[in-house]
Amino acid sequence: MNKRVFNFSAGPAVLPVKVLEEAQRDLLALPGTGVSPLEISHRSKWFGDVLNEAIANVRKLLNVPEGYSVLFLQGGSRLQFSMAPINLLRGSGKTADYIVTGSWSQKAVPEAKREGTVNIAFDGKPENYCRLPGEGELQLTSNAAYLYYASNETIQGVQFQGEPGDGSAPLVCDASSDILSRPLDMQKYGILYACAQKNMGPAGATLVIIRDELMNAAPENLHAMLDYRVHAKGNSLANTTPVFAVYICMLVTRWLLDDVGGLENMRARNEEKAAMLYDVLDAHPELYIGHAAKECRSRMNVTFRLPDDETTQQFLAGAAERDLSGLKGHRSVGGIRASIYNAMPTEGVVALRDFMLEFAKRG
Ligand SMILES: Cc1ncc(COP(=O)(O)O)c(C=O)c1O
Repeated sequence: MNKRVFNFSAGPAVLPVKVLEEAQRDLLALPGTGVSPLEISHRSKWFGDVLNEAIANVRKLLNVPEGYSVLFLQGGSRLQFSMAPINLLRGSGKTADYIVTGSWSQKAVPEAKREGTVNIAFDGKPENYCRLPGEGELQLTSNAAYLYYASNETIQGVQFQGEPGDGSAPLVCDASSDILSRPLDMQKYGILYACAQKNMGPAGATLVIIRDELMNAAPENLHAMLDYRVHAKGNSLANTTPVFAVYICMLVTRWLLDDVGGLENMRARNEEKAAMLYDVLDAHPELYIGHAAKECRSRMNVTFRLPDDETTQQFLAGAAERDLSGLKGHRSVGGIRASIYNAMPTEGVVALRDFMLEFAKRG
């Protein structure tokens, strides 16, 4: 078998080894069917069971109440930048409030502007997206169609620890890079969506959890594939569902329930892992220059710079020698980004922490 490294990539990202082993075992022929999960029909009984289990697992993990639909769609999170305003803003005559805390929430704004009026309730750009809005800083519209935010900004490494806003407008949340990393109070959300390829599975599936009441108030005559109702009515089978991606999402959510023991446990593990790396940043602030303000730090993407390019290259080379991969920061921010999603084992974070401490001691 080829050697596995610790993969700190931001996405597609590390998956639980147990899940990969199970998929490997069944890759050539699923028990009882004789065909591969890469070959099987989305209309098969096998896949119907997989899809229903994935949906049931998500409902259980996030305690999704009645009156919400759980969908597996395609088009990635970026299609949701458009689908949310097409369904919730178009023709409403209302304004949508957007909290812009990093590259991803910023990219959602122009798509919403195509559908109606957008108010930027907070803009973190002048401070290079290093922090989240403080208390009283949001400029909210009364009677807004919704309040949009990204719970975790994957590139800058800032993460909300609670929901923003005053609760008056439905929340639309891009949770692509921290979905299923901790419990949430789903009642607060109008739409919560996440592409699979960071914390839930491979690229190709996007989870959307939507409050039915909002979904049913969308304008009529939308393009079918852009209409949440069509997908809800077809139980995510309105077109060919990404079978393999949903299969892996099912195995990952099963792992979260059975092996991790739910999202409280997952949260505890994630906090512990993140603290290990932030402690090193705090102990060596002259070498590891953290991007996010302390109180806004992400538990999923730890972002920092080293003093210059040469040191950064030395750091990346040393990391690679120790089988620590995917640490180069996003091209727009530079430096280092360690993505430590749910499936990154504690040993991987320990190995990175130990390397960082060793690197800090070099002459
Ligand atoms: C927070 C966030 N939103 C949106 C996206 C875009 O997702 P996709 O490439 O699936 O459209 C990403 C990452 O790629 C992300 O991290």
